[in-house]
Amino acid sequence: MTDYIIAPSILSADFARLGEEVDKVLADGADWVHFDVMDNHYVPNLTIGPMVCQALREHGVSAPIDVHLMVEPVDRIIPEFAKAGATTITFHPEASKHVDRSLQLIHEQGCKAGLVFNPATPLQILEWAIEKVDMVLLMSVNPGFGGQSFIPHVKQKISAARALIDASGRDIRLEVDGGVKADNIGELAALGADTFVAGSAIFGAPDYASVITEMRNNIAAATA
Ligand code: DX5
Ligand code: ZN
Repeated sequence: MTDYIIAPSILSADFARLGEEVDKVLADGADWVHFDVMDNHYVPNLTIGPMVCQALREHGVSAPIDVHLMVEPVDRIIPEFAKAGATTITFHPEASKHVDRSLQLIHEQGCKAGLVFNPATPLQILEWAIEKVDMVLLMSVNPGFGGQSFIPHVKQKISAARALIDASGRDIRLEVDGGVKADNIGELAALGADTFVAGSAIFGAPDYASVITEMRNNIAAATA
């Protein structure tokens, strides 16, 4: 049976109370912390870096931290995030000149590695990279901001990525990021996604626990 992962994006949390927010969302049923790193270069926004990841670890966060790098170049920052306590590090292949080298570097640093595909980026690169990939992250919005609407054509891409992963026979998570809400999460799970990033849907709600429970119920109903 698939274990479904809910990974709230702290991009939509209250940064002035970040430790408390992360404690609360994990206590309310989240599995991972999705950590969006933006550099005002690869994407038009600027967020948080390794120091904040380390601060969350020192605060006592023990859940997996899923670091989504939206930075260019990527290699220099990988060891910094590994040292800061990242569990998984994903990057956009467009942002690395040497994708295989970046994947290797993430593994050498003791983390799980993933590739992130923008809505218009084809999955082709997986053909020769899949052996080093632990997670495929499909962006269902253009990266840079929380609170955008889900781009519908990504649903077909979920099915395509699921087929590639299954054909590889490898243990690879399929994550979807952008515009994921309680009312579409079931459909995304039925298409083959198993890991769900949700920022505004969770942190924008008054009660995180009830949204997370509703998400899990909708996944269960759609995949029964
Ligand atoms: C966008 C980020 C997402 C974002 C998702 O570049 O990668 O993780 O926070 O936010 P929502 O869930 O609000 O679309
Ligand atoms: Zn993200």
